[in-house]
Amino acid sequence: MKLLNLLKAAILIVTMLSCIRSKNDREIVDIVLERKVDSVLSMMTLEEKIGQMSQLSGLGEFTGPLIAGDSAIEAVKQGKLGSMLNINGVAYTRQIQEMALLESRLGIPMLFGYDVIHGYKTIFPVPLAEACSWDLESIEKSARVAAIEASAAGQHWTFAPMVDIARDPRWGRIMEGAGEDTYLGSLIARARIRGFQGDDLSSSNTIAACAKHYAAYGAAEGGRDYNTVDMSERTLREIYLPPFKASANAGVATFMTAFNEINGIPASANPMMRFILRDEWNFKGMIVSDWNSIGELIPHGFAANKNEAAILAMRGGVDMDMQGNVYSKVLLNLLKNGEIPESQIDEAVRNILRLKFQLGLFDDPYRYCNEQREAEMLLNAIHREAARDMGRKSIVLLKNGNRLLPLSKSVRTLAVIGPLADDADNILGGWRALGSSEDAVNLLSGIREAVSSHTRVLYEKGCDIEGDDRSGFKNSIAIARRADVVVLVVGESAAMTGEAHSRSDIGLPGVQLELIKEIYKTGKPIVLILMNGRPLAIPWEAEHLTTILEAWQLGTEAGHAIADVLFGDYNPSGKLVATFPRTTGQVPIYYNHKNTGRPAENSLRFTSKYIDTPIGPLFPFGYGLSYTTYFYTGLTLSSDVLHMSDTLKISMQLTNTGKFDGEEVVQLYIKDHFGSVTRPVMELKDFKKIKLAAGETVTVNFLLTSGQLAFYNNHMQYKAEPGDFSVMVGTSSAEYLEEDFKLVW
Ligand code: NOJ
Repeated sequence: MKLLNLLKAAILIVTMLSCIRSKNDREIVDIVLERKVDSVLSMMTLEEKIGQMSQLSGLGEFTGPLIAGDSAIEAVKQGKLGSMLNINGVAYTRQIQEMALLESRLGIPMLFGYDVIHGYKTIFPVPLAEACSWDLESIEKSARVAAIEASAAGQHWTFAPMVDIARDPRWGRIMEGAGEDTYLGSLIARARIRGFQGDDLSSSNTIAACAKHYAAYGAAEGGRDYNTVDMSERTLREIYLPPFKASANAGVATFMTAFNEINGIPASANPMMRFILRDEWNFKGMIVSDWNSIGELIPHGFAANKNEAAILAMRGGVDMDMQGNVYSKVLLNLLKNGEIPESQIDEAVRNILRLKFQLGLFDDPYRYCNEQREAEMLLNAIHREAARDMGRKSIVLLKNGNRLLPLSKSVRTLAVIGPLADDADNILGGWRALGSSEDAVNLLSGIREAVSSHTRVLYEKGCDIEGDDRSGFKNSIAIARRADVVVLVVGESAAMTGEAHSRSDIGLPGVQLELIKEIYKTGKPIVLILMNGRPLAIPWEAEHLTTILEAWQLGTEAGHAIADVLFGDYNPSGKLVATFPRTTGQVPIYYNHKNTGRPAENSLRFTSKYIDTPIGPLFPFGYGLSYTTYFYTGLTLSSDVLHMSDTLKISMQLTNTGKFDGEEVVQLYIKDHFGSVTRPVMELKDFKKIKLAAGETVTVNFLLTSGQLAFYNNHMQYKAEPGDFSVMVGTSSAEYLEEDFKLVW
């Protein structure tokens, strides 16, 4: 017995010592890193330091060869440029790196950045679509594949993930994020960062990530890109900042400041934002501006000229000037005139050099330059398979009346109609990096590959995505009449979402709805497939058509992924992460709104609603069907009282009552009934994605602590308040079981 205790004690001591040692090791690594950074810094001239703080873009089109401009090349050779964006490929990045190493005085390696938003060469679903999978592992894997490809092609750094919460689908950049929910958005931010950065930034197949756009960019007034943001500090901290905080906690290497102003002060020169990031969250990484967002302090009306812009951006904490040429033009004079202390410049340069060390660029500047790896990695079969898998997990089944889906592979005649059916370009979505339509599988091909040899597939484009050409209607109607089932493929072009692509009307563009109405008149069964980068307002379609599949823009493997779902090789499990409104006029519309003093009540006149459209969304947050059915029952709380220091155990039974195996996202929401400030009608607090065989029942358990009930109270303290709460567990934000409990001291 004694011996056993001695042994246990010895094990404990060894474990403790190794913990202490590993902590010391980490500290030592940090100290050594800082010494290395300082030793490089001490050798640099002022001009070289300022050069490190500048980033310039390669010229040309994203789709063509990207040749850096002469001025950038000259600056590289003179050691007066720290970073470039938009240059690609091992051969070219190596060439630039060589210039920096061999021709500049100190040979400081260059840092290459690029918008690797949803894949590099193998394109994955647009981020909004991926988020609908609620599958953190797959989302992390998608970012991992993107990092493997990008790093193999010479990239060190991606300007992703975009972690902006978006409650307004008019805003074209809603496509680049994880939707409207703060909790889910924070988890997805973490997953994407882990995918890009892995455990070790210096590894040759990881890249630095960038949490952007700090902050509140998604709240642009009217959904118009770059527009003004005016919001309470409470909403900022509670809704918009948590995904950024989660990114900082996940060790994201860099942050990008946003274009917008926040309450009168542009985000790229906002001392409060710097304070939150650096002092409250202890972020030690590098901060880059957005594209000329320092120069834009002038049109914002915040800086009178470039001198002021530079001073203000430095005060706001921006280390690197992306494509603004402001720092490079004015910082030296400002220093000489004593308007900026050198210590401030040194701090920024340290943040940049540290990242270069962390990426291993000082050890081996050609670490990311390996032609063989580039050839093997880009668009390889494993990556394509991962994209296909992510694609089918991102699809959301919105309607399946009459159980038309899944279709039989031996259907006799299938009419495939619509402007996006035979389109291998728009399916790639915006920000498709080096993705090419030549490598992509469109839906028509996906269908032709999937069906039996006896199936006749008829195709007609019908109309364009935009414009009013109806000349294809006649033939579309004719082939629909000959078919057993019509697959109608409509939506948006890739260019209708993304940066600077906000819409004031988010219905189907062009004459697509007219085409749908014509086909509807044939009386044939219709599967409507939507391809779009934002929630759409489709009230007529939702009312008249029995079967609607939201297929977003799924990337290189879109056609295969959609066909997998259409013909039942994969049972859809996606759930919306952004509310679908009935009309654009309801926007902004989101599930976690406040109740108001006169909550909407159809039968009562003076309540908070519209006179010309029903209350509520067309499809709510968290909504998505499956080919099987799930039955929720037996919601039980371990107690109807939760003490502040305790944990509430929540359980319920979930049964797959249908005929297909499937996966269900079980969602847990809470409602705090009264507070020192008003609370949302519901808030997502947890979820579980559960695999269930047909007929299977499982018990689903959740734990809830008072920490999850905290919010910014009337004194702006982040605390839970005692009182009445409800727990809702269900299949969406609109369909759930509910139980009450009290939170007490
Ligand atoms: C501007 C965009 O706002 C940002 O998201 C992107 O990373 C940069 N341009 C670089 O392309």
